[in-house]
Amino acid sequence: VPPHEQRMLKAHELLGKFYHHLLMNTNEGAGALDYVTSRGMAVESIRKFQIGYSLPEWDIAVKYLKQHGFSEGEMEQAGLIIKRENGEGYFDRFRNRLMFPLTDMKGNIVAFSARSLSEDDHPKYLNTPETPIFNKSSLLYNYYAARSEVRKQGFALLFEGFADVISADHAGVKNGTAVMGTSLTDKHIHLLRRLTDSVTICFDSDHAGIEAAYRAGLLLIQHGMETKVAMLPQGLDPDDYIQKYGAEKFRSDVVGNALAWTAFKLQYLRLDKNLQNEGERLKYIEEVMKELSTLGNPVERDLYTRQVAEEFSLSLEVLQDQLEKLVASQR
Ligand code: CTP
Ligand code: MN
Ligand code: MN
Ligand code: MN
Ligand code: MN
Repeated sequence: VPPHEQRMLKAHELLGKFYHHLLMNTNEGAGALDYVTSRGMAVESIRKFQIGYSLPEWDIAVKYLKQHGFSEGEMEQAGLIIKRENGEGYFDRFRNRLMFPLTDMKGNIVAFSARSLSEDDHPKYLNTPETPIFNKSSLLYNYYAARSEVRKQGFALLFEGFADVISADHAGVKNGTAVMGTSLTDKHIHLLRRLTDSVTICFDSDHAGIEAAYRAGLLLIQHGMETKVAMLPQGLDPDDYIQKYGAEKFRSDVVGNALAWTAFKLQYLRLDKNLQNEGERLKYIEEVMKELSTLGNPVERDLYTRQVAEEFSLSLEVLQDQLEKLVASQR
């Protein structure tokens, strides 16, 4: 690691500790601490993930890091402070926000994601921009801490956000990592593959989350990963679910019932269709048969074909016939 990057890591380490201290031990941080605990976050989690609070003042980080020997140029390069428009001095990027340190694959803090504390303070999350030590599309939240659990359990859970990782961790599910609202990339997959060849996607159950799960799954499959998708009731994210139904149910009903990729795809194909409508039902069945015809495993093909025949009261022979034609046409 080049010396100037080493210094950036040091600045993050110091600031991370400082933000955490402000949240845990000061009057100024009491409101933010109320906010996190009222969301159901446990104190052990706040400690483990070193969650912090940045004060509303304009130049706390500037002053704090100056005291520790850092130049403003260094802080700016690290994404922590911003040059004023009129050129006179700098101000803190993160103010009056809940601070989530982001660590690299060695466990060093390389960036922050900062959540607003009120609905009308936008954006909801403010992140460190691209810097020499931080690239959002190649970082998985909690990767470092989850490594040994992923290896032990033989699969990684992939969430959309860190609130989900933290809730799951507290619920005893410690093999969770998260892309931070970005799409899954090749780089993420290469990181995961160092630990496992099996990933269970558990994204938010809203339109954006389901579409993102589908795209992430396609990429994982392309990379030859065993891919499952854990589904949640409509509208919830994993954090919401755990708060509402508890750890036990999350482990058994959500993670334990994760769908194999093909089963998820069949669910996905019906999302925008009204299957009560005959035309849409036929279209769905056609899409499913096309999908099944691409499966390499004949047993899997047979299994799902029987399911479709049963669900729609169709003749199995007719479906099998159609499937064979589709398979033949692809040769
Ligand atoms: N995200 C972001 N910028 C935003 C919104 C989201 O970087 N403006 C990222 C965050 O990393 C967030 C993830 O996308 O964790 C998922 O977004 P979302 O589901 O909206 O947030 P939650 O994790 O559910 O956060 P909360 O429960 O605090 O609303
Ligand atoms: Mn690749
Ligand atoms: Mn979401
Ligand atoms: Mn969410
Ligand atoms: Mn949430």
